[in-house]
Amino acid sequence: MTTSTPANASPLTQDQLKTLVGRAALQYVVPGEIVGVGTGSTVNKFIDALATMKDQIKGAVSSSVASTERLQALGIPVFDSNDVPRLSVYIDGADEIDGHGNMVKGGGAALTREKIVAAQSERFVCIADESKLVQTLGAFALPVEVIPMSTQRVIAQFAAKGGNASVRLKDGQPLVTDNGQYIVDVTGLQIVDPLAFEAEVSQWPGVVTVGVFAFQRAQVCLLGTANGVRTLEF
Ligand code: 5RP
Repeated sequence: MTTSTPANASPLTQDQLKTLVGRAALQYVVPGEIVGVGTGSTVNKFIDALATMKDQIKGAVSSSVASTERLQALGIPVFDSNDVPRLSVYIDGADEIDGHGNMVKGGGAALTREKIVAAQSERFVCIADESKLVQTLGAFALPVEVIPMSTQRVIAQFAAKGGNASVRLKDGQPLVTDNGQYIVDVTGLQIVDPLAFEAEVSQWPGVVTVGVFAFQRAQVCLLGTANGVRTLEF
C-alpha cells in the first residue's frame, strides 16, 4: 500500500528530504516506551526530531556510538539492548530498499548493531530519500563486517560469486567498527534472492554480519520524494 503526504511546491534538497522523513517517523514512536534508533545522516534528522518529544518517551536503544552520543547530547536516555527485551519500533535508514522491504545497510559501518536492534523490535520503519528505492539490491556496494583475519578469505569467496570486494579504509588504514572489526564492501552483485543470500553469506567463517537485511526487513518505508513523504507498507 502506498500513501503520500504533500510537500511544498519547490524542489527539496536531499538534506530537506531527510529532514522530512525524519520528522514523519515520529508518528511511529510509541509514547511511554523505549524506541530503537539506527545510524546515519537520515537517522540524525530523526534524532533531532525525537528530541522535541523526549519527555514523552522513556529513552532509546541505539545502534552505534555515534547515535548514542547524539541522543545523549540532546538529553535522551540510552539503554543497553540487553536490558530491554522488546521494542515496539526501530527507526533506521538504508542504503537501498526494494519493493518488499529488503534492504542493504551498513554504509555507516553500523550494520551489526543495527541488525541486533532490528531483531529485538516488532516493527522496522525505514526512512530514506527516494534515491534509495531499487528494483534489485546490489547497485550500492554491499557492506559486510568481518573478523580481520578472515578478510582475504571473504574477499575470495565474493570473487567466486562474481563480486569485487575490498576492505573499507579510513585515513589509509582499515576502518575499525564499533565492534573492533573490519568492513568489506562488495560491488558487482545482483541480489535477486535476498533471504537466501543473507542466509548463505552469514554462514561464511569470519563474517560477523552481512549488510543484507531480509530476515530483519522493513515493514514500513517513509520515502522522501519531490511530492512529499510516500509511505510504503510491506
Ligand atoms: C549505517 C546505515 C545507514 O542507515 C545507511 O548507510 C543510510 O545512511 P544515510 O541515512 O546517511 O544515507 O546502514 O550503517
